[in-house]
Amino acid sequence: MTDTRTIPSVPVLSLGTFAGRRATLPALDDAPAVQAVTSGRIAIGMALRALGVGPGHRVLVPAYHSPSMIPPVHWRGAEVVFYRVHPDTTADLDDVASKLGPGVKAVMATHFFGFPQDLRALRALCDAHGAGLIEDCAHCFFGERDGVAVGASGDYAIGSSMKFFPIFEGGCLVSHRHRLPDALTGAGAGFEAKAALAALENSFDHGRLPALRAALALPLRLKTALWNRVKARGANRGANPGASTAPALAPSSSDSSFAFDPHWLDRRSSWFSRAVLRRAGRARLVEGRRRHYLELERALAGAPGWRPLFPALPDGACPWVFPLLADHPEALFARLRAAGVPMVRFGSSLWPGVDDAVCANSMELGRRLFGLPVHQELRDAERSRLAAAVRRALEDSAGVPA
Ligand SMILES: Cc1ncc(COP(=O)(O)O)c(C=O)c1O
Repeated sequence: MTDTRTIPSVPVLSLGTFAGRRATLPALDDAPAVQAVTSGRIAIGMALRALGVGPGHRVLVPAYHSPSMIPPVHWRGAEVVFYRVHPDTTADLDDVASKLGPGVKAVMATHFFGFPQDLRALRALCDAHGAGLIEDCAHCFFGERDGVAVGASGDYAIGSSMKFFPIFEGGCLVSHRHRLPDALTGAGAGFEAKAALAALENSFDHGRLPALRAALALPLRLKTALWNRVKARGANRGANPGASTAPALAPSSSDSSFAFDPHWLDRRSSWFSRAVLRRAGRARLVEGRRRHYLELERALAGAPGWRPLFPALPDGACPWVFPLLADHPEALFARLRAAGVPMVRFGSSLWPGVDDAVCANSMELGRRLFGLPVHQELRDAERSRLAAAVRRALEDSAGVPA
């Protein structure tokens, strides 16, 4: 069996990370006002606050969503109202129009999987009803559609830089229309150290930067020993009722959690993450993702039981993942998991209350969609192994009842 366990699911640092420079597509942080924060959800909270969202207000959110998009709305004391999406993930504008009204203060719109959507009609609807538009570019750090750059349509746009760059934490809040009034503060030396070391260790764990790994072996062992002692002490103190526990060094948003911790509002992203964003070869990033996407599509062509979510890769898109729709999702999932294939099943957990009556398309996408990695730090050999494992899993799960 092809083992795919060592294939990095997210970008990891390599020497190539810094090769080449200018992006071939517009980037979210080209906006005139940019703040680098620790996650996309924190940027959503800050955008909602900037729009004046508060108790008694409603915020429209796509029924197909990441659960991490919801707690920032609740943090503002506002109510989430889900709107329907079409099978291709675009907003159902009739449904949005029927839900807009005096209490609706903001609408979130997501460019899913790195494919920029045309937001002109949604923008016009928001303007007509006095609602702010938050452009969710968590999947779409780069891109344009009909000459409009990602992030340029919303009052505010948010990004999740950690999905695109080899960093441990990072998100951003940007605006082409408003100033960003709130100054950011640093989150402390512990956070700075954690952000840098976690990014390096993730890279070492995948066989990247071997010389640096060897040079840092001793200090990293010391750090781990020290950290284990600190944690053990914290655990002992935790056993005492009333004892204080130290705050986490880094936000849980970096640990596949959907939680929202207001402690991280107005905190600056780490120096390390910001330096990587500044220095990364952006042309290589965009072109690498596009190339892996197209190669994966080619390698899976003719395999049974799937189709790509999007019929083509537009020139203006820089994919987050390769989204495919499976005919036999549960059988495929079991096989992909057994083969150790890194994947995201975006929408497989939707916010409680979202069901077929709210949006059957979202439920269907949540059941059938698999996102495969296409990030720029995949080696060609890793992508080939990944494609072979997915092809085999598709063939094995063909004929299994859906
Ligand atoms: C569509 C979408 N929006 C927002 C977010 C929040 O981004 P972050 O994880 O950086 O907080 C995510 C996270 O996966 C997402 O998928």
